[in-house]
Amino acid sequence: MPSITLNGRKCDFQPGQTILQVANANGIEVPQYCYHDGLSIVASCRICLVECWSPNPKTGNLEPFMGGKLVPSCQQTASDGMVVHSDSPKAVGNQKAVMEYLLINHPLDCPVCDQSGECFLQDYSYMYGRGVSRFEEQKVKQPKKDVGKNVLLYSDRCIMCTRCVRFTREVSGTSELCVTGRGNKEEIDVFPGVALDNELSANVIDLCPVGALLDKDFLFAQRVWFLKETPSVDGLTASGDNIWVHHNEGKVYRVKPRTNPKVNKWWITDEVRYGWKFVHGEARLRGATRKQFGVSVPSDYARAYDLALEGMKKVVSGGKRLAVMISPMLSCEEAYLLAKLGRTLDPRAVLAVGPVPVSGQDKVFPIGAKEDDPRAFKLYAEKAPNARGVRRVLAAFGGQVEEYEPFLRALGKGLGASDIGGAIITGNYPSDWVTAEFEKCLGGKFVVLIDTLATRLCERADIVLPGATWVEKSGTFENARGMLQAFERAIPPVEGARSEGQTALDLLAVLAGTEAPAARTRSEVLETTRGQVAAGVQVAVPFGDEFRARAVRNEMARMAGLGTFGDGVELPPAEQGVETDMAVVAL
Ligand code: SF4
Ligand code: FES
Repeated sequence: MPSITLNGRKCDFQPGQTILQVANANGIEVPQYCYHDGLSIVASCRICLVECWSPNPKTGNLEPFMGGKLVPSCQQTASDGMVVHSDSPKAVGNQKAVMEYLLINHPLDCPVCDQSGECFLQDYSYMYGRGVSRFEEQKVKQPKKDVGKNVLLYSDRCIMCTRCVRFTREVSGTSELCVTGRGNKEEIDVFPGVALDNELSANVIDLCPVGALLDKDFLFAQRVWFLKETPSVDGLTASGDNIWVHHNEGKVYRVKPRTNPKVNKWWITDEVRYGWKFVHGEARLRGATRKQFGVSVPSDYARAYDLALEGMKKVVSGGKRLAVMISPMLSCEEAYLLAKLGRTLDPRAVLAVGPVPVSGQDKVFPIGAKEDDPRAFKLYAEKAPNARGVRRVLAAFGGQVEEYEPFLRALGKGLGASDIGGAIITGNYPSDWVTAEFEKCLGGKFVVLIDTLATRLCERADIVLPGATWVEKSGTFENARGMLQAFERAIPPVEGARSEGQTALDLLAVLAGTEAPAARTRSEVLETTRGQVAAGVQVAVPFGDEFRARAVRNEMARMAGLGTFGDGVELPPAEQGVETDMAVVAL
């Protein structure tokens, strides 16, 4: 394999890679602003310039490359035997000069800038900046602009890297952004009468290496150094986009894309980025309820579990069948535990998949691109993360897996010779999903509802158990590409709620006669959730084992047809980001 020597380190490379790509792949820090793996190369910011020597093909002796000029490492392809320095006095001198130039008109307002703490301008200032400005003239002041539904532009912080402009041309294909003016009057802007309003618009916020493009939704919401990040997967659509959930003290503040070349590349859609708001919504269910004299009243979990099991056992002993409708919003592990519960209570239990929401049609970006284009990004019309995973798990339990429409008919009319007398219904959708027809079909049946948001079904159900959203639990989703991807719990469930997997484990434990949880101590609970629970957040004490997705996957892998859960699941990275090793450079 060909190799180059970069800052004294030998680095192998694939033919065609640029010097900067080789440096990034080998963890060698070369400063960069305008370069991005997902965009075309323009080599305009000039901070990545390096000193280069290459072997003379005739003599084999090392000679200054390009007559000894500094070359942009983002644009220059590596060639075998090259010796490259980004840390030589000449290269560092250029880095300092570029930094001084970029900061001439910069407002230096880091204390009030949202990007502070994750800003490349800040990081490189520590490395290559001057402590004092030599600029004595008036700084050029640029306006703040509202450029779109989700994005604000603070023009005077912009360093004109044009990543944002290239994104709208090359990735979204919508071309809303452009460069206007010249010299120190150069600005990023939208074309007249056009707003930055496409399904991928907020990706420009992540792309902006400084605090020029900011997220309206996150504006002044939290300093970034307080945020913890948890690797997760899109829990709202069938895309399986890889994401980071940024949270603090049990509250989600923002969602960012997590790079995965096989799925979402570097991007996510705005619906994935902002669709989590219901997690902290007023409509969340925060306690179990039971029916008393035809009215729903609050209940403790122990009573609700007893009544739920009692009601379902009565259905089965009365000769009727149970049904378990598993929402495509739930994880594979939860589908497994709920199906296991259903089949433990009634070996003939009907297993069905809940409604799979669809909105519009699949869309490929850039607009007009073919789906198999390596740069294409696909937005899925299917708005449920795990319909395929739920089907896969239920099929392993044997018998027919009912889709929602036939299941509705079965609920309404009865299935075969024996009618359905009771049902465990799961929801977990980000908005009200219950139709009048569905409610009608449940008429006369014993209903245990496990859901996250209050709907009219809560009044109808005999027992209501609050569920948890995907950011409040771990699990596995199978996306539309057929990939099984695991995700981790970012925050604990809202007070009074517990994950559907935990509820299923609890019900199985009560069914098996496990002792009541009152015997457990508070310290045990904190121990099991260490690192995830902030002070003051109350944790529901589980009845059975604590729900752990990995343990459930191991159990699933032993079941015929589910072996893939043993080694076929893509796990999130163990390392969460890399800290820049910053050092103050003496001037
Ligand atoms: S707004 Fe940000 S991404 Fe766009 S050119 Fe300026 S610095 Fe680059
Ligand atoms: S990163 Fe190479 S010139 Fe900007």
